[in-house]
Order: sequence, then C-alpha cells, then structure tokens
Amino acid sequence: MLHPIQKAIVPAAGLGTRLLPATKSQPKEMLPVGRKPVIQYVVEELQAAGLTQMLIITGRRKRAIEDHFDPDPTLLSALEQAGNEALLSELSYIQRNSRFFYTRQSSPKGLGHAVSLGAEFVDDDACVVALGDSMIMGEDSAAPLRAMMQTHRDLDAAAIIAVEQVAPDETHRYGIVSIEGSEPPPGEPVMMTDIIEKPPRGTAPSTLAVAARYVFSPAIFEALGRTPTDGQGEIQLSDAIKLLVQTGQPVYAWLLHPDQRRYDIGNFESYFRTFIDFVLADERYGYLARQYIKAKAYEL
Ligand code: UTP
Repeated sequence: MLHPIQKAIVPAAGLGTRLLPATKSQPKEMLPVGRKPVIQYVVEELQAAGLTQMLIITGRRKRAIEDHFDPDPTLLSALEQAGNEALLSELSYIQRNSRFFYTRQSSPKGLGHAVSLGAEFVDDDACVVALGDSMIMGEDSAAPLRAMMQTHRDLDAAAIIAVEQVAPDETHRYGIVSIEGSEPPPGEPVMMTDIIEKPPRGTAPSTLAVAARYVFSPAIFEALGRTPTDGQGEIQLSDAIKLLVQTGQPVYAWLLHPDQRRYDIGNFESYFRTFIDFVLADERYGYLARQYIKAKAYEL
C-alpha cells in the first residue's frame, strides 16, 4: 500500500531580479506579505496538508530563510520569561511537527534544475513541489494540496498539477497546459495533453496556467535528467512534465476552485496586489486597513 506523502520540495533559489532593489540582499521569499514572510505561508500550507519533511532549495543571499525556520532559544526564553504568550504563539510555526532540510542551488539554472536537487531527498517516494514565492488564499489554503495528494494516490499518477484560469493577454507569463476536453471542472483531475512554458503572445493553447503546486511520483526526476537546457541555459520543470506526457505517463491538471486563488510576488504589481489582499483579509488588522483604504479612496 502507498503510504501518505510526507515530503515537500520548496524551490527558493531564484534571483528575484524583477523585485530589485528589494531583493538585492534579501531573499524574495522572505519579503513580508502583511505580518509574515511569503515562505512562511507556504510552509504553513504544507504543514496543514500533513507534510512533515520540507527540503528548501536555497542559494546565495538566502540564509535568512534558514534563520527564519530555526528555533532561536535566546528569543524563546526571553519571551517565556516575559510571559509573552501572544508572541510565543506567533513563533509556533517553528515548533510544529516538521523537519527542515536545505540544499543550495549554486547558480539559478531554472526551476527544473532546482527541483532535480531534491532527487536524493525524495528517493522512491512521491512528493509535493510548492514554489516559495507563491501562496494559495482560501478558507483552507491547504485544501487543494490535500485533495491533489489523495487523487495522486487514487490514480497512481505521475503528476497532478494545479492550474488556474488567467486572462488571455497574460498567458505569455506562465506555463500553459492543454487538456482533454475544453472546460475542466474545478477540483477534479483532467488528463493533460501538453504543457508549454511562457508561450509567445497569441500562441497559447489555452488560458490554464500552472499554479505553483505540484504532486509528483519519482518519475519526474528521471524526466528532469533527460530534459535539455533551454535557450537561456535553464532546465524548465514544464519541459520535464512535457516529457512525462510524451512518454505516455498519466499527468493530470487540477483546476483550483474560484475561491482558491494563487498569489505570487514575482513582480511589483503582483506583490502589491498580494500584499493588499492579504492585509485586507488579516483577522487582526484587516478592519483597520479597510477603514484606511476607504478614507484614502474618498480623497482620490
Ligand atoms: P521565478 O520564475 O519567479 O524566478 O521563480 P526568479 O529567479 O525567482 O525571479 P526573477 O525572474 O529573477 O525575477 C519562481 C520560484 O522558483 C524558484 C524561485 O526562488 C521562486 O520561488 N527558482 C527559480 C529556483 O529555486 N531556482 C531557479 O533557478 C529559478
């Protein structure tokens, strides 16, 4: 019997050049969205989905990520002595039942290359891949991954890939998938027939974009090993997924429900949108933020 998936790979080694100068000396994945850095949302989602072992792919200037998930005994005992339960509970993400592992991608040779560094960690198991700069917002942010993992087991799939609908003039920014049939039902697996990384404008086969969450069988590592570098010298995860499809392995797309939105902070426009939406939804500060924005909008 297949045992539940426990391992996740979190690629966080990219340069984040589109967010310069904010990312000059700190990782993009450590930029705050409201009260937490982006990668903490990602890790909390993985923990809530039941994953217990996280391999974070880091790189140069990414040490702050390790510090963030490392217990700091001096800080914890100072908060304990001060009886500051509120702040101690804010740090509970470190104590949860998970183990953190790190490996470095010395130069950013693409997302596929970053994921391939997890081959030994994953070994013969299935695994989740969750991009360190992308979050899922919804009542239960772990719901899509939980359902995708269950489906991966039920179908003995090579890959289940979360997708979302994007505007037709945005498709050139994403990995775009083709599926069997036209309109996929949300929250159900649909056989994938092709995937193209950042198709030139006007050439995308659909408006279904890969949404930063994947469940893979170990076959992905063999496919990554056979994936050639692209024109920029990078190994793309989408190209390895394409190889899985071309060799007849069962690869499924999984459309997120309309109330499960993917947010990434890859460029300033999406970062600002993400920040505003998360602050407005913040259970402690959302009300104040809404009041403030209403007052500002009145001034404009
Ligand atoms: P992006 O595609 O946004 O690339 O990465 P990037 O390098 O971070 O940013 P730009 O394009 O220079 O602005 C999506 C996710 O994949 C990781 C990134 O850290 C991010 O979390 N990634 C990307 C890697 O781990 N390694 C890579 O070689 C590329």
